Amino acid sequence: MQVLSVSSLKGGVGKTTIALGIASAALDRGINTLFVDLDPQCDATTGLAAVNDYSESCADVLSSPRPNIVRKSIVEAKWQRQHPSKIHVMVGSTRSLMVDNPQPTLGELWRLEQALSVVEDEYDLVVIDTPPSLNALTRTAWIASDRVLVVSEPSFFSVVAADRASKAIDEISTKLSPRLALHGVVVNRLRESSDEHNYRLSELREMFGEKLIHPHFAERSTLQQATGAATPIHSWPSEAGADLARAFDSILSGVLSDMKSTSQVKRARTGSSIERAIRGVAKETFSGLELEEEPKAKKSSRKSRGRRARS
Ligand SMILES: Nc1ncnc2c1ncn2[C@@H]1O[C@H](COP(=O)(O)OP(=O)(O)O)[C@@H](O)[C@H]1O
Ligand SMILES: [Mg+2]
Repeated sequence: MQVLSVSSLKGGVGKTTIALGIASAALDRGINTLFVDLDPQCDATTGLAAVNDYSESCADVLSSPRPNIVRKSIVEAKWQRQHPSKIHVMVGSTRSLMVDNPQPTLGELWRLEQALSVVEDEYDLVVIDTPPSLNALTRTAWIASDRVLVVSEPSFFSVVAADRASKAIDEISTKLSPRLALHGVVVNRLRESSDEHNYRLSELREMFGEKLIHPHFAERSTLQQATGAATPIHSWPSEAGADLARAFDSILSGVLSDMKSTSQVKRARTGSSIERAIRGVAKETFSGLELEEEPKAKKSSRKSRGRRARS
């Protein structure tokens, strides 16, 4: 199972739209996929037409990633109809805001990873839609991820946000989760006739070089229509839909081959936070690692579950 976060530190750039496009490509390709909707706006849950009768959600999973809660939070998306492979959703909730602790402990930051370990053998790919800021939810998603795809519009604030995201990913990779890497930056809502857009595009090219992903996505009403109708773009009956579907196929292929280039590391279900951080990597590499300990009060209550960080 490999995990991709789709992120941007700015809202409204098309993060959910791109994440759904990639999920649609995975469904079309027969890849068993779990979509995790970590954004409290829950747009992806709506876009995938996923309804949860049990009312457990990402918020409950992040409060307590016990196997029964993880399983109750996952439902089948209506997208799955007539497809041989799975597209399931760990449903979003506005209550995710409540678990967005401004000073998260290490244990909290590893909870999604822990939750995903419960379903490790059931999916080939996990796509996470993250909130539009560098909050604890986004960090939790990145720590559970192999790769991050950053979405950017060709606009000033969006370019600045993409740069910030890239630096933050590097930092988390160095300090906490070495398998994490930026896959690349995808440009959305490009208007090729706009001088400003072309200028910002050249800035992105300079900043990210080979990590600037092709193809770019132009402003397309078809994307809005497909999302609004809760329909995978691969099932949208138009030439424009088919073009977009091919673009998402190409992005998915790039993500999969990038993920394959590094060895797969089994998700950690047990052990300390530090063991989780260094899995698959020689301990010496982490001699400079500084990890905050969890507050004492929380430490003792977690002891029985064997999740306490060893000092
Ligand atoms: N390439 C595009 N062309 C036209 N509309 C788009 C495009 N990408 C996204 N949108 C629309 O822009 C709005 C914001 O996109 P969304 O994916 O929800 O952004 P985010 O998740 O980053 O907040 C939505 O209404 C979406 O349909
Ligand atoms: Mg969104």
